[in-house]
Amino acid sequence: MKLPAFLSHCLRPVRRRHPDRRSSRQYTWSRPSRNAAASSLALSLLLLSPLHAAPPTADSIAVRVQACTACHGDQGRATNQGYFPRIAGKPAGYLHAQLLNFRDGRRNNALMSGLVQHLSDDYLREIAEHFAAALLPYPPPQTTGAPPALLARGEQLVRRGDTARDLPACAACHGAALTGVSPAIPGLLGLPRDYLNAQLGQWRTGQRRAAEPDCMARIAARLSAEDIGAVSAWLSSQRLPADTRPARALPQALPEPCGSVGAQQPQGLGPAYGSDSQAAHGENDRRAAPDKNDGQAVSRMKNGS
Ligand code: HEC
Ligand code: HEC
Repeated sequence: MKLPAFLSHCLRPVRRRHPDRRSSRQYTWSRPSRNAAASSLALSLLLLSPLHAAPPTADSIAVRVQACTACHGDQGRATNQGYFPRIAGKPAGYLHAQLLNFRDGRRNNALMSGLVQHLSDDYLREIAEHFAAALLPYPPPQTTGAPPALLARGEQLVRRGDTARDLPACAACHGAALTGVSPAIPGLLGLPRDYLNAQLGQWRTGQRRAAEPDCMARIAARLSAEDIGAVSAWLSSQRLPADTRPARALPQALPEPCGSVGAQQPQGLGPAYGSDSQAAHGENDRRAAPDKNDGQAVSRMKNGS
C-alpha cells in the first residue's frame, strides 16, 4: 500500500546515525520544512485536525512525531469521535508492542504499517515513551443511543464478566478504573465505539494478534457480536476517572495468562516502563474540547486505504 503523499513527504525515512545509540542502522525521519509540511497537510483529505505543535525548530522527538498528530490528534490525544485511537498516556510497553505489531504484521492497518516499517525497535520504543509520558485531558465521552438493556449488559461484562460464557471481567485485567495497567495493558476508556468494535472483531478474525498466549483473542472469541456491541457502547460512553493514569500493578494475578504481559515483565520493558515518570505529570482535567473529526474517513481508516 502506498502512503498518502503528504506522509511520504513529511516522514520520508532517512538513514542517519542516532547520536545516543550504538546502532549504525538507525532510521529517523527527515525533518519536514514547516511550510511544505503545512501546505501538503492542508491539502490532504486525511487531515482531520490541524497541527498545533510548536514550530519545528529543534530536532526533538516531539518534532519528529508531529506527523502522527495528523491522525492521532494534537499530541496524540485524539478525540472520542470517528475512528482514530488516542495514543497519549497509554502504557509505554503497550504502545511499543503495537508499533512492533504493525511493523511485523500482527496488526493489520496499511497506513500504520507503512509508517513504521523502516523504523528500528529502539526508535519505536522512543516514540512509545514519548506518547506514554503525555498526560493530557480527555474529551467528554461519546453520547450513545443504545438501549439501556444493551448498556447494562456491556457494564456487566466489563465489571463482572459472565461465568456462563467463561468470561472474566474486563476490569480484572484492564484495571478497576479501566485506565489500564503499566506496562502492557491499555485502558479501555476514551476510545471511539467504532474503534473498539473493530479491534474486538479483528481479534475474532485473527487480523489482530498479540504475543501468545493471546488472551484477547480467546476472550474476543467468547463474545457474541451483540456482546461486542454492548461493551463498545458502554465503554465509549463512560467518563474517565479523575486520575487517568494506568495503574502501576494489578492487585491480583491475571485471570488468564497473556503473552504480551508476561513477556514484558520484569525484564526487557520492565523498569523503563514503570509509571514513575508519569506520576510527575500535572493535574488532569476533562475540559478539552473535542477536535473536529471526519466520520467519512472512518471506513477508509479501518482498512488503512
Ligand atoms: C494516516 C493516519 C495515521 C497516521 C499518520 C498515524 N496513525 Fe497510528 N493509527 C491509525 C489508525 C487508523 C489506527 C488504528 C488501526 C487499527 O484499526 O488497528 C492507528 C493505531 C495506532 C496505534 C495503536 C493504538 C492502540 O490503542 O492500540 C498506535 C500506537 C499508533 N497508531 C501510533 C502512531 C504513531 C506513533 C504515529 C506516527 C509515527 C502514527 N500512529 C501515525 C492512523 C494513523
Ligand atoms: C486476561 C486479561 C484480559 C481480559 C480479561 C481482557 N483483556 Fe483486553 N487486553 C488485555 C491485554 C494484555 C491487552 C493488550 C494486547 C496487546 O498487547 O495487543 C488487551 C487489549 C485490549 C484492547 C485493545 C485496546 C486498544 O487500544 O487497541 C481492547 C479493545 C480490549 N482489550 C478489550 C477488552 C474487553 C472489552 C474485555 C472484556 C470483555 C477485555 N479486554 C478483557 C488483557 C485482557
